[in-house]
Amino acid sequence: MHSIRSCCRLFHHRRTVWIPPVAFIIAFLIYLSFFTNSLNPVDRVEELDYNSCMCGLCRPEKPRTEWYNEHFNRSIEPLLTRKDQEIPEHVHKWWLKLQGSNNASSITEVLEQIFRVIPTGNPYAEKNNRPCRTCAVVGNSGNLKGSGQGNLIDSHGLIFRMNGARTSGFEEDVGSRTTHHFMYPESAVHLQHGVHLVLIPFKLLDLKWITSALTTGEIKSTYTRVKQFIKADKDKVLIFNPAFFKYIHDNWTNHHGKYPSTGMLAVFFALHICDEISVFGFGADKNGNWHHYWEKNRFAGAFRFTGVHNAEFESMLITKLDKEGKLKFYK
Ligand SMILES: *[C@@H]1O[C@H](CO)[C@@H](O)[C@H](O)[C@H]1NC(C)=O
Ligand SMILES: *[C@@H]1O[C@H](CO)[C@@H](O)[C@H](O)[C@H]1NC(C)=O
Ligand SMILES: *[C@@H]1O[C@H](CO)[C@@H](O)[C@H](O)[C@H]1NC(C)=O
Repeated sequence: MHSIRSCCRLFHHRRTVWIPPVAFIIAFLIYLSFFTNSLNPVDRVEELDYNSCMCGLCRPEKPRTEWYNEHFNRSIEPLLTRKDQEIPEHVHKWWLKLQGSNNASSITEVLEQIFRVIPTGNPYAEKNNRPCRTCAVVGNSGNLKGSGQGNLIDSHGLIFRMNGARTSGFEEDVGSRTTHHFMYPESAVHLQHGVHLVLIPFKLLDLKWITSALTTGEIKSTYTRVKQFIKADKDKVLIFNPAFFKYIHDNWTNHHGKYPSTGMLAVFFALHICDEISVFGFGADKNGNWHHYWEKNRFAGAFRFTGVHNAEFESMLITKLDKEGKLKFYK
């Protein structure tokens, strides 16, 4: 009797002694992993890219449905590079119309100047036998507020944000890492070191602006005042291909809206370069309001009614892509 009790007391005693150090070690490891992850967001991307397709789902290998096949065209390059800088005539015409111009003066010269400042190659040219690439496309919808999805977003290899997106103060819901920031001159924000600025050129002046904003600062306005200089890594700048832009408009959004939204362009960029895609922050919030997650005014999202983009159609398209197993849509 006595010996049993002492054994158990001993055991009980031991257990209480063991718990605090073990808990401490676990807490320390969690802290350490969090700290190393957030220390250098860009290095971590490289690190995540090492293993050959280890994704649970390797998107390109999934059987494609007829619907997807009819729309998807692998041969259209998402980025404008020195090698892929020839803009087909029909694309050039459409692009000029978009900017309300009929000045068909060649953009070759403008691109020449750009590629003197930014890299000339395509970082995503390798389509086969390359490591798994997981991507989070983070829209700016108010439905992210209170979502608690920050850690999930940060766990992706590449993280795409757009336009006025901010993370500071919203980390719990939107995450803290960014690898690619999609923008145009009028929506431009300064970026942290190592983040890819992905320029979406709506007009020739946008292409001139990026060269200027990274060098001399001679362009100060387009149809409105724009940033004269942009804080961004020159050797990380990427140019969205107008041909890819047109392809999305023709083949995916089917001319709903005047042209696809920046968010839509980022989703299709992901569909063409990533193996696994998660989409966050698109669509209305649960009360049906359209606004940005950083805005106090729930009714501020008047952009939805401008008719330039068709937000409902775009939301439906993402839902369809989710059903087809091409991405995961977090609503
Ligand atoms: C895919 O795009 C290329 C380049 O624009 C074009 O030549 C080809 O016809 C397209 N494929 C289909 C199936 O439409
Ligand atoms: C067309 O654009 C070129 C290059 O930007 C410019 O030099 C030229 O003056 C423009 N022509 C007209 C008619 O606006
Ligand atoms: C995309 O749209 C164009 C123009 O409407 C069409 O000719 C083409 O067959 C469509 N499909 C693909 C896969 O490019």
